[in-house]
Amino acid sequence: MATAAPLQATAAHNLSQSARTEAAYHANESADDTYIPRGDTVVTLNYFRPPEDGSVPFNFVEKQPEGQPQRNFGDFDVQVPITDIRGRESEYTLDKDAFAVVSGVPESAERDFVDDESIKKNYYPEVEKLLLDHVPGSNKIFLFDHTIRRSTPGAPRAPVTRVHIDQTKKSSTWRVNLHLPEEAEKLLQGRYRIINVWRPLNGPVQANPLGFASSSTLKDEDLIPIEHRYPHRTGETAGIRYNDSQKWHYLSGMKNDERLFLECFDSEASKDGSNVLGGRVPHTAFQDPRTPANAVGRESIEVRALVFGP
Ligand code: OGA
Ligand code: FE
Repeated sequence: MATAAPLQATAAHNLSQSARTEAAYHANESADDTYIPRGDTVVTLNYFRPPEDGSVPFNFVEKQPEGQPQRNFGDFDVQVPITDIRGRESEYTLDKDAFAVVSGVPESAERDFVDDESIKKNYYPEVEKLLLDHVPGSNKIFLFDHTIRRSTPGAPRAPVTRVHIDQTKKSSTWRVNLHLPEEAEKLLQGRYRIINVWRPLNGPVQANPLGFASSSTLKDEDLIPIEHRYPHRTGETAGIRYNDSQKWHYLSGMKNDERLFLECFDSEASKDGSNVLGGRVPHTAFQDPRTPANAVGRESIEVRALVFGP
């Protein structure tokens, strides 16, 4: 009996880091609905599975034509380790990882983030300036789109739990021609990138955070173009074939004054002889098993930008 206490202490001391995190969470669970999961962990991500018959993958953005499936590819869940980059944000760069974090951004002139025209008037100029200030070499920005996501049931757009990249070279080039037809020929001779500027609207993020894999760990052959079929045109996104070379990250408890740059395309990255490894960042929302049951669902906005410059 006399030895029981020291033995227990030794056992507790030997618990693995993840078991201790788990134990700390369960101690917290009933007491604290505001608990924010932090640190490295293992999560389940939903990956692309190519069509079995080898055909070109497609999905219909709106209702599919009679007799056609909504999409011809599948998906599957994979458990992956994910690293919390909090405290080490500056180690990650657009040219190496295709993601970057900017902290301490002043509060936006936009208060509500419900009206699209108001968002364009108040928030877009701030995003433009942020990109010019923080993307090395950038000298011209065109913001072409934004999406607000809410986790509440029935919200028009929810977090996306599917590993993907928004654009490919084809759709990025198409965007430049669409939005800047007069200058496109000249702009396409220089460096052009697509960068999403992502932020939470109700941070710190407690549930449904965003995960992103370093572009430097993504092999070209694992990037699979998907035809994104609208009624009147076909765009192109990318699905990612699972490979354990892909290294996943997240920024725990992301705050309203933090911005995540997600670089979906960089014309430099696909050039022979270029040292740029960035330019295509796989990303997805994920459920963290440590999130308390009554956690507040994440709300966010991403603004999509064409970024030009050497
Ligand atoms: C994006 C994106 C998903 C999400 O910003 O491009 O895919 O859940 N976001 O916020
Ligand atoms: Fe995306």
